[in-house]
Amino acid sequence: MIEDLWYKNAVIYSLDLETFMDVNGDGVGDFEGLCRRLDYLNSLGVDTVWLAPFQPSPNKDNGYDISDYYGVDRRHGSSGDFVEFMHQAKKRGIKVIMDLVVNHTSDQHPWFQEARNGKGSRYYDWYVWSEEKPSNWDEGMVFPGVQKATWTYDKKAGAYFFHRFFEHQPDLNMDNPEVRAEVYKIMGFWLELGVAGFRVDAVPFILESTVPGKDQHKLKFEYLREMRRFLQWRQGDAVLLGEANVLPEETQPYFGEEGDGIHLMFNFYVNQHVFYTLATADTEPLVKALEATKGLFPTAQWAQFLRNHDELDLGRLTEEQRQKVFARFGPEKHMQLYDRGIRRRLSPMLGSRQQTELAYSLMFSLPGTPVIRYGDEIGMGDDLTLEERDAVRTPMQWSDDTQAGFSTAKKLVHPIISEGPYSYTHVNTEEQRRNPESLLNWMTSLIRLRKECPEIGWGDWQILQTDTPQVLAMHYHWKGNSLIVLHNFDVQPHEVVLNLKQKQEEKLIDLMANYKSAVDEKGRHYITMEAYGYRWFRTGDLSHLLHRGKKGNSKQ
Ligand code: GLC
Repeated sequence: MIEDLWYKNAVIYSLDLETFMDVNGDGVGDFEGLCRRLDYLNSLGVDTVWLAPFQPSPNKDNGYDISDYYGVDRRHGSSGDFVEFMHQAKKRGIKVIMDLVVNHTSDQHPWFQEARNGKGSRYYDWYVWSEEKPSNWDEGMVFPGVQKATWTYDKKAGAYFFHRFFEHQPDLNMDNPEVRAEVYKIMGFWLELGVAGFRVDAVPFILESTVPGKDQHKLKFEYLREMRRFLQWRQGDAVLLGEANVLPEETQPYFGEEGDGIHLMFNFYVNQHVFYTLATADTEPLVKALEATKGLFPTAQWAQFLRNHDELDLGRLTEEQRQKVFARFGPEKHMQLYDRGIRRRLSPMLGSRQQTELAYSLMFSLPGTPVIRYGDEIGMGDDLTLEERDAVRTPMQWSDDTQAGFSTAKKLVHPIISEGPYSYTHVNTEEQRRNPESLLNWMTSLIRLRKECPEIGWGDWQILQTDTPQVLAMHYHWKGNSLIVLHNFDVQPHEVVLNLKQKQEEKLIDLMANYKSAVDEKGRHYITMEAYGYRWFRTGDLSHLLHRGKKGNSKQ
């Protein structure tokens, strides 16, 4: 049954063990802490947790530099604590996805250390080497301004090794079948421990076959299909969620011709256009981006998101568009990063509660599976005094106790935000839980609403034409369900006229507010949109789909 595809309507919560909850008081978050917060996630409505890398690591790139794929970094607990966590998550019906970082290892990984013994050594061919200095040694860096090269000389090996990312992250040689077999072993290991799938780090770079001096790297999509086949044999309902910031016309081979590639892929393209539209109220480029990423294979799915643990990458916008987003959301140089992005959290960027709600309401209504990031549900801020992307990686703010209730340690892995409007004394879950008007409670209702609208995950959709270019109107259909969502990106209110064709669409049922649109004799709806307002409507008399309970029991 196609409805078995659980990921079509999951709500994914991304977190980093390191900054979530520290129980043993060493200043670093741990599995025990995460276990104690599972009820919080459960009542928020989250059904899938995506864990950032938690394996042993020198931690020079937030754990994306792994030195042992089969373990748990001691800072987060033991393998026993991991299994305990998996058990607790399962009991609550929460699925767990983990990062699969196999484009590169840490330079401290025993494989690389062994490979450095030079040609002929056991692991030499597990990495990508060049005896000559490649002409393009300083091209193709992912972190321009911070990363100086992509080929670095290793004295001991007497050769240059390739690293798409930092020089402490040597790329694995995927063309070596032994490496691919090891990757499947890693996947098999964690699947056996119960994970529901993997967020596959840096997919395009995993697939490239690097030749020194050549810029054109051919991508080997057969490796992705092989990975998928392995995954599905081992566990039928496990998924791959790919990180690939690619253009719409390049996406198809990632999903596979017949859905035999990755299941889910982050929609970076739409994400960047969402921020453009939030900055300018011009919905046209967003509509184009949505249309350009439409029409996936039925089992494939977009993962929609607003912010993640990295910079907000605006590299796919035109220069003019990017400058407009910078001007509105990251005007100062120190807010920008790698010549293409903004290193801020969502709430401080948008600046107002109304626009934050607009952004989340939009994201949850976009075709795909929503992914939220820890702390965004309470509107956490950033710390721009920290280096690079660490600005958005401060510890979760649980309460107004010392260290925001995150830890009892004096020194933390990253400092708590303790000044200004985003200080833990103002922004924390404890306070927001008590306050019915809080962002946390609003977000909980939004998640509930999203779960009641499976047509967003499954359905076909169209853009509805209105005469108001600042308002995006989308119409979903699925199995007799019909949903209309409207978002006004303008700071001014607007009246939107909707000309709905179907008889059963005469009635619009507001799913969020007690609001009724005016209808004229021709069946046109006149809908008031507040400044940065949003509305979700079911059409026709379909309220039975929402409220199965007795009459009078249907209060939202
Ligand atoms: C991905 C991660 C990023 C990391 C990089 C290298 O892009 O999202 O945080 O630095 O891969 O592993």
